[in-house]
Amino acid sequence: MNKAQYESLIPKPVLLEKRGGVCSLTPESRICVQAGSTWALQAAEYLAGRLRPLTGLPLPVEEAAQAFEPGCIYFTAQGAGTELGEEGYQLSTEEGCLIIRARGFAGFFYGCQTLRQLLPPAEGPWEIPGVFIEDYPRFPWRGSMLDVARSFFTVDEVKRLLDLLAAYKLNRLHLHLSDDQGWRIMIDSWPNLALHGGSGAVEGGRAGFFTKAEYQELAAYAQSRAITLVPEIDLPGHTNAALASYPELNRDGVAPGLYRGMKVGFSTLAAEKEITYKFVSDVLGELAALTPGPYLHVGGDEAHSTKDEEYRLFMGRVQDIVAELGKTLVGWDEIIQAGLRPGDLVQIWRKDTRPREAVRQGAKLIMSPCTRVYLDMKYGPETELGQDWAALIEVEDAYSWDPVSVYPDVGEEDVLGVEAPLWTETIHNLGDMEYMLFPRLLGVAEIGWSPRQGRSWEEYRLRLAAHGPRLRAAGVNFYRSGQVPWEER
Ligand code: ACM
Repeated sequence: MNKAQYESLIPKPVLLEKRGGVCSLTPESRICVQAGSTWALQAAEYLAGRLRPLTGLPLPVEEAAQAFEPGCIYFTAQGAGTELGEEGYQLSTEEGCLIIRARGFAGFFYGCQTLRQLLPPAEGPWEIPGVFIEDYPRFPWRGSMLDVARSFFTVDEVKRLLDLLAAYKLNRLHLHLSDDQGWRIMIDSWPNLALHGGSGAVEGGRAGFFTKAEYQELAAYAQSRAITLVPEIDLPGHTNAALASYPELNRDGVAPGLYRGMKVGFSTLAAEKEITYKFVSDVLGELAALTPGPYLHVGGDEAHSTKDEEYRLFMGRVQDIVAELGKTLVGWDEIIQAGLRPGDLVQIWRKDTRPREAVRQGAKLIMSPCTRVYLDMKYGPETELGQDWAALIEVEDAYSWDPVSVYPDVGEEDVLGVEAPLWTETIHNLGDMEYMLFPRLLGVAEIGWSPRQGRSWEEYRLRLAAHGPRLRAAGVNFYRSGQVPWEER
């Protein structure tokens, strides 16, 4: 038997009580916003944009009248307590109407996402059962990463991904913008990076780059979905596309050719050359000016061709540059060895790494263990797409772990959150991207949002089953894992 909508929410809310009554959406239903709240209005317009095509109802958005009316959806900050924070919300049915209370845009927006899941995926009746929900996230950083460097993805494809992330209350999209195979963002002071470096891709992958206007369009679209973009320029390794674009960045002054293979660790910027720092400073400066979010990800992984001493020297200079730009530095866990500064963020990915050491130096941790949430890993030995160097990751494996206990000596307060990367050596189009992310990404969303206590795979898989029809209705190409008793409608 199918579960009721309110029993199948992902991520699972902090508190849900079933109440009597129902809110029925009808041709008379309106979406009513507390006067003067632009956050509520923005979320209400978003919701109307989703529900009108789904339900065929007019659902006008207007300022709230004094009294609540049955069949209407209300957005208000009144009664939203500080315990909700910026991202939390309260959703309740009262006297036949539905009320979303929140303190900021993200809270209203997440109330909308829960409301969407309380409605059937594709066909009416458009009724919301009587519920009281109070909900807020466990971690502030809940994300995914898309490697647009090995294989490029278009603005529309990234927007599609942003919509899907938002539906599950994920709030970070990390864009891996440069690597050996390609450079994906226009930098005006070094235009060959995009013009030449952007013409490369991994074998079978797509070339291309984002103009500055396109990047800003993506950043604004992300903001409208309560998502912050985290741009990454991978340094000092993973830089063949840059080295191929400017001979002067190379130790020997000779530009290599573009690289279409899958090996890592062979390229490096020249830590001893002063022009290297002019390059880094120009690139990060333009990127910082472009991105509204507070983060600059500087990579730092697998710099196997950079000597240890050079790596420390180089990363120290990069830290200075990022600090001067007023941004928060994010790096892969190899940067621990370069020495961290308080407030740095370290993305933990390797099995043998030392998160405790990062914490001791004042950094916070983003958990991306490659054996759990590298979503380019195959589900099983038969999965055609993806790789298997870290692990085979079935849906249960991506769900049944915890960001705080996956490494020793890490506490709840040390962990900023969780992020699931998608590397694209073998993933070259939207359908393949969706197949690798879904449904594993829903589990990651729940790990990042829901309380740890009481979480169980056996309970989760039944809720996940109810999202099959929902993903299908959204046209998502997802993996029909045999571990999940998928509902048909
Ligand atoms: C990585 O997987 N090289 C961060």
